[in-house]
Amino acid sequence: MMRRHWLLVGACGWVLLILMFVSKFINFGFRMPDDYGGRAESLNWTIPSLRTMKPLLNQLPQNAASQSSPTSSAQPDEVDFSDWELVMRQRLQLLSTVCKNSSLWNLTHTSVRKLVLDRIFVCDKHKILFCQTPKVGNTQWKKVLIVLNGKFPRVQDIPENLVHDHERNGLPRLSSMSDAEITERLKTYFKFLIVRDPFERLISAFKDKFVQNPRFEPWYKHTIAPAIIRKYRKYHRDSSGSAGLHFEDFVRYLGDESGQKQLDRQFGEHIIHWITYVELCAPCHISYDVIGHHETLEQDAPYILKAAKIEHLVSYPSIPQGITHYNRTKVEHYFSGISKRDIRRLYTSYQGDFSLFGYHRPDFLLD
Ligand SMILES: *[C@@H]1O[C@H](CO)[C@@H](O)[C@H](O)[C@H]1NC(C)=O
Ligand SMILES: *[C@@H]1O[C@H](CO)[C@@H](O)[C@H](O)[C@H]1NC(C)=O
Ligand SMILES: *[C@@H]1O[C@H](CO)[C@@H](O)[C@H](O)[C@H]1NC(C)=O
Ligand SMILES: *[C@@H]1O[C@H](CO)[C@@H](O)[C@H](O)[C@H]1NC(C)=O
Repeated sequence: MMRRHWLLVGACGWVLLILMFVSKFINFGFRMPDDYGGRAESLNWTIPSLRTMKPLLNQLPQNAASQSSPTSSAQPDEVDFSDWELVMRQRLQLLSTVCKNSSLWNLTHTSVRKLVLDRIFVCDKHKILFCQTPKVGNTQWKKVLIVLNGKFPRVQDIPENLVHDHERNGLPRLSSMSDAEITERLKTYFKFLIVRDPFERLISAFKDKFVQNPRFEPWYKHTIAPAIIRKYRKYHRDSSGSAGLHFEDFVRYLGDESGQKQLDRQFGEHIIHWITYVELCAPCHISYDVIGHHETLEQDAPYILKAAKIEHLVSYPSIPQGITHYNRTKVEHYFSGISKRDIRRLYTSYQGDFSLFGYHRPDFLLD
């Protein structure tokens, strides 16, 4: 009897150990996505739900808000997007103009490769394509598309570890389809992506991958960071061990295009968290219908839902105050002490993203 008891305890112990191991392994394999980190919890999708467009009226830019004031007391359903429509059309116009003027940057040389098709998620039921870009709250959008595809009834029912498991979550990548299927979808579906200021994006990626460094992503700490330090830190002999990657090292790595390519080959892949939007989503090749900006997500999210004709099915959660706004103080803080030469090189690497999406050159860092 006693012996059986101990056998049972032993067996339980083993099961626990195996479970711990497996869960670690699974998390590692996933390369967790970019998001708002701890703040993700506070974004709450509801499906279906009352729409939350009313606050939108208070957040429209001056010119838009003044013109739409007559409708501000109307039902949320009657919110007039025509002013925001103009902003959106201007974004597309700019994109198309800059794409055509490819004398400066090799924007049009980036073809729609597997990397891009891997980034695009497909919602066949509602004919939507979504190109996933890091650090703009993509997990929320993916959850919604998963629900719209019908695999789960509600956003809350999707297990966290399934959101990015595209074998099992019912949200296929475009790359999993045949050439004919891809072409058909690119031609006829509603397509959108969300971008943000390129330098803020890099700061966010740096913090996420090297500072907070979640334990399930040891790859960044143990492989990427030491390789970048070895190559780009001037006095790495002094500080290689414990100090960890500095933002300055990261900036040098990203500003050195050929060196970065070399290192990335060594890593075995391009790292989606910091390659350009041009490489991620091929915006000059794929004619996106809407380009969302993280900085104006409060307006853009409901606009996207409406443009995709799913606004009666989902609503965007309220966005915590201030987290989407461009924070110049933060940018200045991160770049302080980094040489102008290095920052200019970094800017050159990301100039395409700045121009295509209408982000101003950060003169205060470069001149
Ligand atoms: C999120 O939504 C669920 C279900 O609608 C609700 O129970 C929960 O309190 C909400 N959480 C937050 C943080 O609003
Ligand atoms: C193309 O880019 C160059 C360099 O920035 C600029 O001088 C020129 O005006 C642009 N042309 C168009 C048509 O935008
Ligand atoms: C543009 O692309 C071509 C061919 O891929 C390459 O030879 C050239 O160096 C590139 N130019 C720039 C400015 O990157
Ligand atoms: C901007 O960033 C700084 C430094 O990270 C932070 O202290 C400040 O609260 C931020 N401002 C806003 C409006 O979020």
